Amino acid sequence: MKIISKPKKSHPLLTVSMMLLPKNEHGCPYLFLAPMEGVGDRPFRKAMATIGGFDEACTEFMRVPTNAHVPSLAKRYDPNVTFPIPQAAQLMGSDSSLMAEMAFAVANRGAPRIDLNCGCPSNTVTGRGAGSSLLKEPEHLYKIANAMVKAVSIPVTAKLRSGFEDISLFKDNLLAAQESGIKFLTLHPRTKVDGYGPPARWDLIAEAKSLLKIPVVGNGDILNVNDALNMLKQTGCDALMIGRGAVINPFIFQEIKSHFSHIPFKRSWEKFRIYLDTFVEELPIEMTERGKLNKMKQLFSFLFRANPTLMEQRQSLLTCPRTTVESFLSFALSIYTSRIS
Ligand SMILES: Cc1cc2nc3c(=O)[nH]c(=O)nc-3n(C[C@H](O)[C@H](O)[C@H](O)COP(=O)(O)O)c2cc1C
Repeated sequence: MKIISKPKKSHPLLTVSMMLLPKNEHGCPYLFLAPMEGVGDRPFRKAMATIGGFDEACTEFMRVPTNAHVPSLAKRYDPNVTFPIPQAAQLMGSDSSLMAEMAFAVANRGAPRIDLNCGCPSNTVTGRGAGSSLLKEPEHLYKIANAMVKAVSIPVTAKLRSGFEDISLFKDNLLAAQESGIKFLTLHPRTKVDGYGPPARWDLIAEAKSLLKIPVVGNGDILNVNDALNMLKQTGCDALMIGRGAVINPFIFQEIKSHFSHIPFKRSWEKFRIYLDTFVEELPIEMTERGKLNKMKQLFSFLFRANPTLMEQRQSLLTCPRTTVESFLSFALSIYTSRIS
């Protein structure tokens, strides 16, 4: 007689976390490249995909204004930018039916996940009740997230700051987000008023983790492998998201993965050159040479934060008189390569 063993019952929440945010075969947690409007745009994400190491990327926020024409707005979402790495779409808005409509349209274009922005501090946005303004009204946050959840069959998630002016509604916001039916949330533990100033409060990630049943992605101030390990240890979060740390060191995800696999990883100049070339190639054709030059300066001004000696040279980099992307690139690279081992 064939004995069919009963499937083992795993904890339902453990399953959600394992399915949505699986660790890799070496136990490395799921790694996200953070959405970063104006910095982490298409050229950056495409360039990052040439290096890899992260499990999922996300677009910068796509504004859904109250007069949005959803079909044309949704066309801006291209699921293939980081192919084969999945790329979620982040939406920001305050009208629940439009947000639901947009979520549906973007899901139809192949988005693997839709993220609700509850953190953007920009006043032009918050003035209209979107982004971090949602943190002033947990009920409104719930309403929008829930409308999006109901509109699509793919996972909807949310990315929150710890509050607007203060953290008095911190728990209410977390619970409202969870109640809405989102699959997990990312916490960047600074308030809107903090901007990017004071250190991210990782203790709040730990608090969110102990309060919520849905998985929590920890985000804020991860600049190297040690930071990543410390965040995991101090907060117990389920996965990590890295933004500026990846612009400063595009190999950061590979380095974290290497820590877990014990397979040594060495930054490769060839890969770095491909990364830079991809970035340049992806700058929009309609962009002026000056615009392109400014984007290169922005990228290198992050890369130069990698160590104190490079930091000292940031000013000369930014004021350098080179007028073409090519000449700037060889100038910046010559300093960079001489200071990074
Ligand atoms: C230039 C810039 C643009 C950002 N744009 C977005 C955005 O579009 N959506 C979002 O949810 N967060 C945005 N953020 C916040 C980041 O995703 C992240 O939460 C924050 O930078 C903290 O993480 P980090 O210390 O790893 O950079 C932005 C951050 C920066 C620096």
